[in-house]
Amino acid sequence: MRVLVTAGPTREAIDPVRFLGNRSSGLMGAELTRALLVAGHDVVLVHGPLSVELPQSDGASLITVAVESALEMLASCQQHWPSCDALFAVAAVADYRPAQVAAQKLKRSADHEMTLQLVPNPDIVATLAQEKGHRLVLGFALETTDAETRLAEARRKKAAKNLDWVVANGAEAQGATESEVSLIGPDDSVTTLGPLAKNTLAREIVSLIFA
Ligand code: CTP
Repeated sequence: MRVLVTAGPTREAIDPVRFLGNRSSGLMGAELTRALLVAGHDVVLVHGPLSVELPQSDGASLITVAVESALEMLASCQQHWPSCDALFAVAAVADYRPAQVAAQKLKRSADHEMTLQLVPNPDIVATLAQEKGHRLVLGFALETTDAETRLAEARRKKAAKNLDWVVANGAEAQGATESEVSLIGPDDSVTTLGPLAKNTLAREIVSLIFA
């Protein structure tokens, strides 16, 4: 199989020196990429600015594309999606971006409040999943609420975004080396995995999905 993986945070420019971002390190996306490669799959990894090491590319089984913003990530994914058989949407995509990017660095003013106007970014996984056909799509659902609400939200996202699998996790997973997740499958069954190191977790997720 050839799997398209999105990973890491996106950065949404405010001006030439500032951006809106989030705490994602990209570790889960990097480990899922490694687990897919070990299982014999080909991967196209489209990633935002990672704070972890990029999986090793031999140029044949792994193609990596570095992007910054959600719009860049979507454009790259749309280019690669037609040649892939599955999508793992692991990226922590910024839901909003500044309506305007200032051409010059915004200046500080001690006596004026500053308001940033934000516009919604496209939902990358939902956009690609609209044209999935029989291809497999896995998404993540990151929630800061209690376990029960987290599962309900994950199920809602699975249906709303046309996903086959959804991995529900909590905010504590961001930037961490370990994680505990609930994996909801195509038949809505729930498998809880972890807490485990993300490399072990990634291998378990891959073997469950391609069992
Ligand atoms: N996702 C995406 N594009 C976006 C937002 C999210 O592709 N603009 C993907 C993520 O990669 C993940 C899934 O959608 O696989 C769920 O992301 P999450 O942040 O949990 O949910 P949101 O849809 O952003 O909803 P909310 O922030 O309201 O919880």
